[in-house]
Amino acid sequence: MPVSAETVPPADRIRARRLTAPSKAAASGQPALQALGICKAYGNRRVLENLSLTVAAGEAVAIIGENGAGKSTLMRICAGLTTPDAGSVGVSGRVGYCPQEPGLFDLLSADEHLEMFAPALGLSRQQAIREGHGLLAEFAFPLAQRAQCRHLSGGSRQKLNLALALLGGARILLLDEPYQGFDHGAYVSFWEHVARWKGEGIGVVVVTHLLADQALVDRVVELEIACGPAAEEQ
Ligand SMILES: Nc1ncnc2c1ncn2[C@@H]1O[C@H](COP(=O)(O)OP(=O)(O)OP(=O)(O)O)[C@@H](O)[C@H]1O
Ligand SMILES: [Mg+2]
Repeated sequence: MPVSAETVPPADRIRARRLTAPSKAAASGQPALQALGICKAYGNRRVLENLSLTVAAGEAVAIIGENGAGKSTLMRICAGLTTPDAGSVGVSGRVGYCPQEPGLFDLLSADEHLEMFAPALGLSRQQAIREGHGLLAEFAFPLAQRAQCRHLSGGSRQKLNLALALLGGARILLLDEPYQGFDHGAYVSFWEHVARWKGEGIGVVVVTHLLADQALVDRVVELEIACGPAAEEQ
């Protein structure tokens, strides 16, 4: 049985709670992501305490919570970019991570970003350009401009940020407020893509502050702000 925030024994304080019922995918499917007992503190500031999250293949989960609740920290840990103080993360297949702040290079164009990501994803430059252009076109990115990133609008930068996360066929997508600055059409297109990814068996985690998004996912997990110093300093 998959372990979720609610089925972990109540050791210490568990700060995630499920707001909606588990989906059928979560109940029966192979986990695309399984984070167990994650703890993280920065200095004496506890951020995540014994947090567990399982996402099944083909399941979409929204992570919500106040500013500073630890959503981005959790995404970075699940993406393997931040080491937790305790706990483990298991993924089946490649992880696609869309950071909250686009990690783009101002002087490079979209194509140059796609080419730069290609080797890490096992793609040729031509494959990365072809696949990337397909993704960017679906989000109505201004491909014809061939502009350096510093000249792109905020929404266009975010579209490139998202496309880079999708490149190379990820099996689990960790999308941290992925559509900041998107216009209405791009936002609608994003959620159409989520439905398609789910159909392809991809697990999707979306960090969001938008109430409306919560109706579009299988499950909502809320992180609550931890209080008190880190355990070793109590
Ligand atoms: N590298 C770091 N060093 C020190 N503190 C950090 C670091 N990264 C995050 N924090 C702290 O951890 C806490 C959680 O930050 P995080 O960015 O994960 O929150 P969040 O839920 O994503 O917030 P938001 O909704 O504003 O994006 C915050 O108090 C933040 O200041
Ligand atoms: Mg954040």
